[in-house]
Amino acid sequence: MTTASDRYLVRPGRPCDAAELAALQASVQLSASTDGTPDAGIAAWVEDLLDGHPSVRHDDFVVAEEIATGRLVASLVGLRQDWSLAGVRLPVAQIELVGTLPAHRGNRLTERLFTTLHQRYTTDGVPVQMIEGIPYFYRRLGYDYALANDGAPTVSATALPANGQDQPTGGLTMRPATVTDADALADLDRSLADSTTLTCPRDAATWRYEIAGRRPTATARRTVAVLARDTHVLGYLVHGVRLSATGELIVVAAACPPNQWPQAAPAMHTYLGRTGRQHEASQGRPFTGVRPILDPRHPLILLTPPGAPQRPRGWYVRTGDPCDLLARLRPVLRERWRAANLHWPEATLTIDTYGHAARLTFTDGHLTAVTAVRGAVSPPTDPATHAAIPPTALLQLALGHRSLPDVLNLWPDCLLRDRRTEHFLTAAFPTVPVHVWPRN
Ligand SMILES: CC(C)(COP(=O)(O)OP(=O)(O)OC[C@H]1O[C@@H](n2cnc3c(N)ncnc32)[C@H](O)[C@@H]1OP(=O)(O)O)[C@@H](O)C(=O)NCCC(=O)NCCS
Repeated sequence: MTTASDRYLVRPGRPCDAAELAALQASVQLSASTDGTPDAGIAAWVEDLLDGHPSVRHDDFVVAEEIATGRLVASLVGLRQDWSLAGVRLPVAQIELVGTLPAHRGNRLTERLFTTLHQRYTTDGVPVQMIEGIPYFYRRLGYDYALANDGAPTVSATALPANGQDQPTGGLTMRPATVTDADALADLDRSLADSTTLTCPRDAATWRYEIAGRRPTATARRTVAVLARDTHVLGYLVHGVRLSATGELIVVAAACPPNQWPQAAPAMHTYLGRTGRQHEASQGRPFTGVRPILDPRHPLILLTPPGAPQRPRGWYVRTGDPCDLLARLRPVLRERWRAANLHWPEATLTIDTYGHAARLTFTDGHLTAVTAVRGAVSPPTDPATHAAIPPTALLQLALGHRSLPDVLNLWPDCLLRDRRTEHFLTAAFPTVPVHVWPRN
């Protein structure tokens, strides 16, 4: 992790680093909006992360220590979580709190912290890393915009039901969540994880943490409300604990069984209007509207009054090995071909990513294995290769961010052997709605 001439030691975080890491991150994050004043919300969040957070152990932080002084001068953290892609478990690490003290910037510390983290994820079998953040910067570290959340319109406060104008909800009501709701919320997440979307299911312990585990001032804290019929918990809505600087109530997650949405959506709209007005009164700031950080195809959004369109925000994603990712998705690929009644007529189908290749093996036309093999020298002309797909394009296909026709339009070096391969791979890689509220 270090060389003799090095000024810095790059190492995993330790429990005793907590106070120094909180101070470091509070001083470097959000500095444009705090005029350099340490941000108490960031400090509380770091303390949370090192104090029983369900997705983080102390060594999920990677720190750079200045050897001469022993001071911590840069750090980041990876939050481990399992997402579900059309029912297949996908280990993911969300990287947060990337920061270097101003006096130590430009020494490649961020690059070194990421390299250490990526090596660890290769060893631990965490195939996907994601991060939100500085435009373009993380491309330099091997990330690409390969997922998008957001894009749902902002709804004006005046378009929501006013007090006393509640809409019919079929007996569904909204109320604040309590820790006793955690099992029901985890059951709901589990059932929705079998669908065709990309989700981040939370177990009961994680729901308890979301509802009551965080420090009151922590930046990552949200309000969880449950949708209920009598005593039966049917769904949830997760939103900001206060109005944003522009008076918006930000919604980060909403879920319920698909057949309940016609009644659930009006119940949620009524709740959001009422909650926004309560915050207006307590914060002394006008409630301007609801800003859903949700996919425009989300069922709540399809049933929400029209609003101001938003551009989707990209999430940076990286995988160390797209062929390994494909191997993990084998059950999804197999099921998609089965549903489309497609049988591959050869024994294998080889997808080459210009370096590494994945060999898909078929028995009676059905996918039975995906193995990593050496790539061809010239995949587009190699007779044994069916598809030459650049690694970033394969990542986008695998996560359902882009369809094969999109990829063929955008990547001139995505080359397929014949129409049959194109037909099969089009069916294998539909776009997938993102219903992920990452665990941070
Ligand atoms: C962004 C940050 C972590 C970089 O730390 P660092 O240790 O100096 O990074 P490295 O030395 O590995 O890389 C430096 C390179 O990143 C570039 N860089 C730094 N900040 C940048 C920014 N905000 N936008 C674009 N590029 C940036 C530098 O110009 C330098 O480029 P060069 O190699 O062409 O000279 C640091 O500037 C910081 O702490 N910023 C405030 C907190 C923040 O914004 N964190 C990211 C949240 S997503």
